[in-house]
Parts: sequence; C-alpha cells; structure tokens
Amino acid sequence: MNLQAIQATAIEIALQAGAELMRFYDQPHQEMTKQNIYDIVTEGDKASEAIIVPALHKAFPDHHIVAEEGGGSGAPADAEYRWYIDPVDGTTNFANNIPYFSVSMALADRDNNPLVGVVYNPVYNELFTAARGFGATLNNKPLHVSGADSLSKAILCTGFPYTRATNQDNNLIEWGAFLPIVRDLRRFGSAALDLCFVAAGRFDGFWEAHLNPWDCMAGILCIREAGGLVTDYSGGETNLLGAELIAGNRLLHAQIMEVIATSRQAIAKG
Ligand code: IPD
Ligand code: CA
Ligand code: CA
Repeated sequence: MNLQAIQATAIEIALQAGAELMRFYDQPHQEMTKQNIYDIVTEGDKASEAIIVPALHKAFPDHHIVAEEGGGSGAPADAEYRWYIDPVDGTTNFANNIPYFSVSMALADRDNNPLVGVVYNPVYNELFTAARGFGATLNNKPLHVSGADSLSKAILCTGFPYTRATNQDNNLIEWGAFLPIVRDLRRFGSAALDLCFVAAGRFDGFWEAHLNPWDCMAGILCIREAGGLVTDYSGGETNLLGAELIAGNRLLHAQIMEVIATSRQAIAKG
C-alpha cells in the first residue's frame, strides 16, 4: 500500500471539495436542522460530499467509505481500508460565513488505525496532511507540536457537543476548571482544524468528548506525525475515536488529563 500515492489522491479530492465550498462561501446559505436546533447541515456540506464520495469510489473501489451526511458506502464495512469523511467540519461557522471550517478526510485500516489524513481550510488555503510514518505538513512545511511545558503557558482549544442543552456532560465543568489555570482557552468550531492547529504548535493542547471519527481521525494522525500525543480521557485508546480525546505535547498531555480527571470526579459525584 503506497500511502503517499493515496495521500496525493486524497489531497486532490479535498482541494476540489474546498473549491466547491468556496462557490457557496460569503453568501446566504440554505440550512436544514439535524438532531436539534444547534445541529445543522447546509447546501455546502451536501455539495462537498457529492464531490468527495464518488471520487473516492472511483479511485479506491475496494475501500469502505463513511461520510457524515450519507452514511456508509462502497466496499463492505469490514473491508481492509475505510475512509472517514467530513465534507464540512465547522458547519456552524460555514453557515455564518466565518472563515474557520474544513474538509476532513482520513484513511484507516480495519482496526481504525489512521494511515492518511487531509484537512483543508479553503478560505485560508491551508492544507494540513499526514501519512503514517511520513510526517505531517502544512502547505508542504513540516509540522511540530509546541514545546509549552506548563498549563500556565498554554493555549488550549476545545468544543461543546450538540447535545449540550440536555446532557450534563457538556464540557462546562472542564472548561471552568481550565479557565483560571491556562494562558487562555479557545472554542473555534472545527475539531479537525483545531487538532491540526495543535499539530502546528498554534494551540498547545486540545480536549473534547462526543466527537465522531470523521471529525478527528485526520487531525489525530497529523498530531502523532508532528510528535504529539493523542489519547482518550484515561490515557488509552479504547474510547479515542471521538468519544474522548486529549491531545498535546507529551508534557502537557499529562497535565490536561489530570485536570479532566479531577473535573469528571466532580461530575460523577453530582
Ligand atoms: C463539529 C465541529 C465542532 C465540534 C462538534 C462537531 P460539524 O462538527 O467539529 O468543533 O465541537 O462536536 O460535531 O458538525 O461542524 O461537522
Ligand atoms: Ca464535524
Ligand atoms: Ca460536518
């Protein structure tokens, strides 16, 4: 399996999808609600996915494809390789013409180990990409996680789930625990890009729960290939794929994990 050749094809497709999104950008959008009032899909999500999925089918007929707006397709779900596609990560931003959203594409093996990741922000023309064992880049320049060694010097990024109104586990307690002890916090609204910003050393760390593989798999690979650590909230990988994610350089990762563990004990006690 030539990961770099697959990466090149994925990049080409992501750039096409990004160009399609730019046709709709900075204009009024057609919005439809999904699971609740916070969770929307636009004409841009659908148009982007309509470019990506057929192009992947054509290039990789033996691969399974999981795309956020259309579910699974292509080869059966137990195929050796599978793609996770988010046609617009950061739809809420896209819908308001805020220039922080991305196309996110990741290839994984059957055991969900990420092999190739591509995350593209078409407004800033920033292309983050990684292939396992070949490093991570932003517009062809190698990426490295930051060297921050304490939370007091760190900018952390996170996000809040669409179930935030009804689920008590909505990240407010964790946000409140970090706020007084870090340099600052950000909620930018595209987990895929947020993770790439960690890979680029722009953010020092990231945490979020209730993500899906299409939100985070490409970014996870970019961080690992940029020398960072990504685990679930217990420091393992069991719940990693979206359910719980902590990312950062090796020194900060442990500190982020500790704050989250303490906050969650408080949630458990009620
Ligand atoms: C969302 C974004 C956001 C994160 C949400 C995701 P979407 O993806 O990644 O940053 O906080 O949990 O669902 O809906 O814009 O594709
Ligand atoms: Ca997403
Ligand atoms: Ca999406």
